[in-house]
Amino acid sequence: MNIKKRMNLFLGACLLAGGMWAQTVCVSTPNTSLLLSAPQGCKLKVLHYGHRLAANEVESVSAAEAGHNAYPEYGLICPTETAIAVKHHDGNMTLDLQVVQSRVEESGEAMLATVEMKDSRYPFFVTLRYKAFRDADVIEAWTEISHQEKKPVTLHQFASAYLPIRRGNVWISHLYGSWANEGRLAQEALQPGMKVIKNKDGVRNSHTAHAEVMFSLDGQPRELEGRVIGAALCYSGNYKLRIDTHDDEYHHFFAGINEENSAYSLKRDERFTTPALALTYSNEGLSGSSRNFHRWARQHKLAHGNVPRKILLNSWEGVYFDINQEGMDQMMGDIAAMGGELFVMDDGWFGDKYPRKSDNSSLGDWVVDTDKLPNGIEGLLADARKHGIKFGIWIEPEMANTTSELYEQHPEWIVQAPGREPVLGRGGTQVVLDLSNPEVQDFVFGIVDRLMTAYPEIDYIKWDANMSIQNHGSNYLTKDNQSHLYIAYHQGFEQVCQRIRAKYPDLTIQACASGGGRANYGILPYFDEFWVSDNTDALQRVYMQWGTSYFFPAIAMASHISAAPNHQTFRTIPLKYRVDVAMSGRLGMEIQPKNMTDEEKTLCKKAIAEYKEIRDVVQMGDIYRLVSPYDNLGVASLMYVAPRKEEAVFYWWKTEHFCNQHLPRVRMAGLNPDRLYTVHELNRIDNVPLPFEGKNFTGAYLMNNGLEIPYTHQVDYHKQTAYASRILQLTVVD
Ligand code: GLA
Repeated sequence: MNIKKRMNLFLGACLLAGGMWAQTVCVSTPNTSLLLSAPQGCKLKVLHYGHRLAANEVESVSAAEAGHNAYPEYGLICPTETAIAVKHHDGNMTLDLQVVQSRVEESGEAMLATVEMKDSRYPFFVTLRYKAFRDADVIEAWTEISHQEKKPVTLHQFASAYLPIRRGNVWISHLYGSWANEGRLAQEALQPGMKVIKNKDGVRNSHTAHAEVMFSLDGQPRELEGRVIGAALCYSGNYKLRIDTHDDEYHHFFAGINEENSAYSLKRDERFTTPALALTYSNEGLSGSSRNFHRWARQHKLAHGNVPRKILLNSWEGVYFDINQEGMDQMMGDIAAMGGELFVMDDGWFGDKYPRKSDNSSLGDWVVDTDKLPNGIEGLLADARKHGIKFGIWIEPEMANTTSELYEQHPEWIVQAPGREPVLGRGGTQVVLDLSNPEVQDFVFGIVDRLMTAYPEIDYIKWDANMSIQNHGSNYLTKDNQSHLYIAYHQGFEQVCQRIRAKYPDLTIQACASGGGRANYGILPYFDEFWVSDNTDALQRVYMQWGTSYFFPAIAMASHISAAPNHQTFRTIPLKYRVDVAMSGRLGMEIQPKNMTDEEKTLCKKAIAEYKEIRDVVQMGDIYRLVSPYDNLGVASLMYVAPRKEEAVFYWWKTEHFCNQHLPRVRMAGLNPDRLYTVHELNRIDNVPLPFEGKNFTGAYLMNNGLEIPYTHQVDYHKQTAYASRILQLTVVD
């Protein structure tokens, strides 16, 4: 770093405030800033988080803002919510943290601010770090805790970060749900009291609530306007988000690992690093915050975030456990003929002594069932080669069944309370392997390593996880450290992921956990995508994918065309609608093509070809959510716009189906007002083109008026249906 840069950093970090040398720390992204006051020997305070500060106003803002303790500690001031609470080696329950030093460094993709603090009496250290990305409006905040006391210190609370949010008419948007109903959007005004969003599953942390939230600062949430702070905890385990509102001017937001049943005994010189809390700010509404998260995810967080995803067929809903060589070959041939690029063999291919015929056995025995697949994986790869597509495979590496050779050999490897019979999961026999144990970590890494060493052509792995941690207990952790289980499990999981990525950087890996149980930014650095839900019903997917899109980009959201009637809801939805919904995420199929008519196959083939044209816009573009399905207006609509705005894709799905229902005319967003766009309908099934087909409109017209979308499809009478949907491709006229 040259001297000028160093000087600039120094000046950025140390500014004159109120006539004294008070050290302030300011980190900025292109459009946001975080400002802290960090005078040596005093409390660290957060003064501002929001729009980017100009260099020449930092001093004024520092003087004008009183600020809040940036990491409130328990003990001396007891009644308020805190970020950290500990018991020192001598039983003392108090902390008094003071700034020792702070610095701001350039670190390639980001600016990194570090503030070191120490207790005024004990050798107990807390370091706060803030990473502000240069090309994405996200600041990651995390905390490192260590000490040099004589004996271990117990950590009872250890938040990743705290943020005060100015009161006003603040609303939160967050996700909730359950199996087959993941990613539901909830929006509510913050009221006095404490709002807690949490997870205690141990393994899957996004089925129920999500570890992400958005705060709309200007009243009822709006998609395209208003100031919004977004926060995403980058963690795959139990979490707790707290928003405490008592009678003062701020909402107090804390986010971190859920400390319940997880007290952590920290040894001298051991460093406890919390997961990061990713913060974003936008004055372009909820969609603006989503675009910030998506850009950051693609650039920095998601595995292969800038590589377009292949169009695949997954075998699960097509054949379930009924795997065999001929069946797989047929499915591969069918998806190849429709233009697909990858076939994924799901559950049911493994087990020797205990072949996997249903969900009650064999997890852990990752050897081919040669009765089903006499030519083994080699035979399947040869089929894939023959059809000119890639091959992927399903595994559930963190699990075992009690009916398995693995369990017979290593009963001590499972998560189990000592002296008690384990509570069992799926199939009445499923158990979780104890990833706190390095031997188990080696085993889990070895599952992938053995497959990939033997069959380097495997292109894709679907990594499933279908059980919670039950039976709090580990045969590996010491008696005193049983409360480390939840945290140690995820540390072990992450270590395995790191080893896999170090050796197999190019492999595509999907995170699945009974559907959408692992949509989180803790795992995404190692995974390319996640399965949004085991529910593939297109209508319900509109709601689930809508919510999920708040925080995660379309490139990460696996979205598959499935059969009618749907296997989860038994609803019969026309193929056109099913295709139009799946095409708004990472497109795939999850169906038995053998059961499809030629007409259906033709429609899918055309859709796949058209998806290839818009894939870059969907997967790399900026999202603008236009009409929410949660507003019950009878229609949902969103669009993706390419970064330079020369291309866009508009989606429109009816969500209610009544005769003579009146739907809103949808105005577009995100286009260049001054340019002309040609409109072209994709997946057209109507006998006559739409009146605006092939016509040119300015971005201004499309954003001020929108287009009048017919409520039904002009098709032969016997094909009429209440489900109507449209995808419009917009391309700038040169
Ligand atoms: C879970 C997954 C499904 C499928 C089955 C296989 O439920 O979410 O997609 O892989 O397991 O058993």
